[in-house]
Amino acid sequence: MDNEFKTAQALEDQYVMHTYGRSPVLFEHGEGAKLYDTSGKEYIDFLAGIAVCPLGHVHPAVTAAIQEQAAKLLTTSNYFYAQNRAEVAQKLACLAGESYGWKTFFGNSGAEANECAMKIARRYGIEHKGPDCQTIITLKGSFHGRTMETLAATAQDWLQDPFKPMPQGFVSVPRNDCAALDAAIDETVCAIMLEPIQGESGVWPMEDEYLAHIRQVADANDILVIFDEVQTGLFRCGKPFCFQTVGEACVPDIMTLAKGIANGVPCGACMARGEAANMLKPGMQGSTFGGMQLAMAASRATLTNLESIKADELAAEKGAYLREQLATVSYVKEVRGKGLMVGATIEGHDAHDIVNAMLDKGFVINACNATVLRFLPPLIIEPAQIDAMIACLKSLA
Ligand SMILES: Cc1ncc(COP(=O)(O)O)c(C=O)c1O
Repeated sequence: MDNEFKTAQALEDQYVMHTYGRSPVLFEHGEGAKLYDTSGKEYIDFLAGIAVCPLGHVHPAVTAAIQEQAAKLLTTSNYFYAQNRAEVAQKLACLAGESYGWKTFFGNSGAEANECAMKIARRYGIEHKGPDCQTIITLKGSFHGRTMETLAATAQDWLQDPFKPMPQGFVSVPRNDCAALDAAIDETVCAIMLEPIQGESGVWPMEDEYLAHIRQVADANDILVIFDEVQTGLFRCGKPFCFQTVGEACVPDIMTLAKGIANGVPCGACMARGEAANMLKPGMQGSTFGGMQLAMAASRATLTNLESIKADELAAEKGAYLREQLATVSYVKEVRGKGLMVGATIEGHDAHDIVNAMLDKGFVINACNATVLRFLPPLIIEPAQIDAMIACLKSLA
């Protein structure tokens, strides 16, 4: 370990809360799908800040947009108009289907976007069915964030238990189980909230028929559908948004985004359509930094470039190749996911040991738990880089 790393580690250990298990690496710079540590060692990044840099690290157009905006104006608060905020909202609406009439609220993170979605749902329920209509149905194994309310929506005991009692108004049902969903519907339910592919709990896709069923049940009972596309959204799953992978079968009323939306600059977005888009009145929702000019400049450049390189097609093509190659690794039992959101269940090894051994050999991958490896590379990853990573995985058999 070089001295620069040792100094940073000692300082973090002393002054930063130990809420993460950190790997012993200090990255110094990046370019595209590559990262470099302070000793000059090169890594290929199959995590991209946890799906945060779809264009790769330090994309020149995003860097230029940040620099130009930083030299002009960082933020003026949401009391005033901002040209680039309007343009980002317009671009998101176009990508999600302009005819649906999407409107966006901007925050800084996925959890904040989900908070906004749940506030809209509660107001919708109260206005449509009265004060008792406040229940949000979520799915077991979900992950929606770390604030108290998003944690209550996150139906995983090990994450909730240390902080109980949880905020009320949530029930959870098993994923891909239409009968269990039907049984949970009553007059108190205002929304069904889900990730179209559960990310943190192990890359578990929802079946197409299940998504179609959700839309039908919601329509029949005047309930909103919320898609948390914080991880699946922004071209990663082979379409601009994952809901589009099932065509028109399940267009959500509310969709939340963050992670890849500004290629690494903090930004979250809650998009809503129809009546849901107008539920929150002045004073009901806000965020000091949300939609600030600096983040919007980065987002505008990110979305423009993702569109111009046809990032959805790249993700679909390279994701299919990555999944095909992963299936040839002897200890991989099952490969799941869409586009470049990929999970592999393994046997005979602890996934954390594989992640550590891969890091040692210059590949950044992730483990959701002891049995699932997760891959969320930049969408510009090259087939040769996938080949090198697969060869390394095979060498660990
Ligand atoms: C599906 C999903 N929703 C919400 C979040 C929370 O996002 P943030 O960490 O930006 O609050 C995450 C983060 O991993 C996520 O994967």
